[in-house]
Amino acid sequence: MSPKVAIGAVSLLSAAVVLAGCGGGNDNKGSSGATSGNAGKGPITFVTGKDNSGLMPHLAEAWNAAHPNEKVTIKQQSDQADQQLSDLQQHFQAKDPNYDVVTVDVVWTAEFAAKGWIVPLTGKNAMDTSHLLGPTVKAATYNGTLYAAPYASDAGLLYYRKDLVPTAPATWDDMINACKGKTSPTITGPKPACYAGQFAKYEGLTVNASEAINSAGGQIVKEDGKTPNLETAEANKGLSFLVNGFKEGYIPKEALGFQETQSLNAFQAGQLLFMRNWPYANAILSGTGSKVAGKFAIAPLPGPDGPGASSLGGHSVALSAYSKNQGTGLEFLKFIQSQEIQSYNLTQGSQAPVIASLYDDQALIQKFPYLPVLKKGIENAIPRPVTPFYPAVTEAISTNAYAALQGQSSTEEALKNLQSAIQSATAG
Ligand code: GLC
Repeated sequence: MSPKVAIGAVSLLSAAVVLAGCGGGNDNKGSSGATSGNAGKGPITFVTGKDNSGLMPHLAEAWNAAHPNEKVTIKQQSDQADQQLSDLQQHFQAKDPNYDVVTVDVVWTAEFAAKGWIVPLTGKNAMDTSHLLGPTVKAATYNGTLYAAPYASDAGLLYYRKDLVPTAPATWDDMINACKGKTSPTITGPKPACYAGQFAKYEGLTVNASEAINSAGGQIVKEDGKTPNLETAEANKGLSFLVNGFKEGYIPKEALGFQETQSLNAFQAGQLLFMRNWPYANAILSGTGSKVAGKFAIAPLPGPDGPGASSLGGHSVALSAYSKNQGTGLEFLKFIQSQEIQSYNLTQGSQAPVIASLYDDQALIQKFPYLPVLKKGIENAIPRPVTPFYPAVTEAISTNAYAALQGQSSTEEALKNLQSAIQSATAG
């Protein structure tokens, strides 16, 4: 390609971006050019986190067979939430027209919508959400407008070794007592260690610390979604459950480096009696080659006096404001939400569906007996703070919680520092 042609291509590209930004009428949101969308048709790229559950080949094949002129290319990111987010932020900031359709973690909706990076699903882009689980729709909505199509829900579950502990623990004390005499303080000990969740310093720690605090009746932020409320006895009791776990040895030190995958691997290798993880772990732990297949069961997360509270997790799929093929993208959003794809993702990858009726399907409940527990977990889950400044908020939570877990600051100090860090983060 000659330099002249290359320059021409660049300006054509900018023209296309400008056109894409102007295609949809008057409801321009934010300064970056998101509109109600263009109707462009053609090939699209779907950017999504690493496909640990092996669901993407089917999705791509099924879509491509029906849309030979609008094929989807799947671009997989890392399996770590923070890295996925920074990849998306970079591509949106560069107004990349090649990131057509993107997976949005429930905690990113506010930022992406406020910055005009994703297209509102209103007007000709409206989608029927009446058959979906309420919290999944709420998490894809910002300021009263739907911005993304719920794709997979998520709630934390307790995985336990039913061959070693026949009854699921209802409380934290039950769990700790069940570990006495049966466990070692490290995952490499002669016996399994007691409990682990995700305690590395990243989004997963925000999830786990929030769950502990909420389960003890505390709050990260008040009902307004931004005023921190951490200097309470309840928040202290919640965070102390994790801090004491490391001090007393019911959580192994190795777990300070655990994200989802590492905790799953430890449980799968028989190194943990109890594990907090998302529903997707069920399919992998039940798969061929898993040392614990048939030896574990799933229960609600425990709390201090009874069931605990999960953080609401999950993902939606949104149309990038910079895509030229938003018409195709919109059809793709409808496709990923179809009964066919939602059932496939449940039966093949134990991913939590967004279609409510699948949780009441008797044949599915027989295969996945924990479905009612999962549905209740999602319905009662507590959302993480909803704010366009979420990246700063979650950084504050994971940093201060991590300092407490490591024993670098006391639980009181960590909560005090977190209180003021969230205050500054949400002040703008
Ligand atoms: C899961 C959840 C997501 C959460 C992430 C944290 O992917 O669905 O909401 O942010 O885990 O690691």
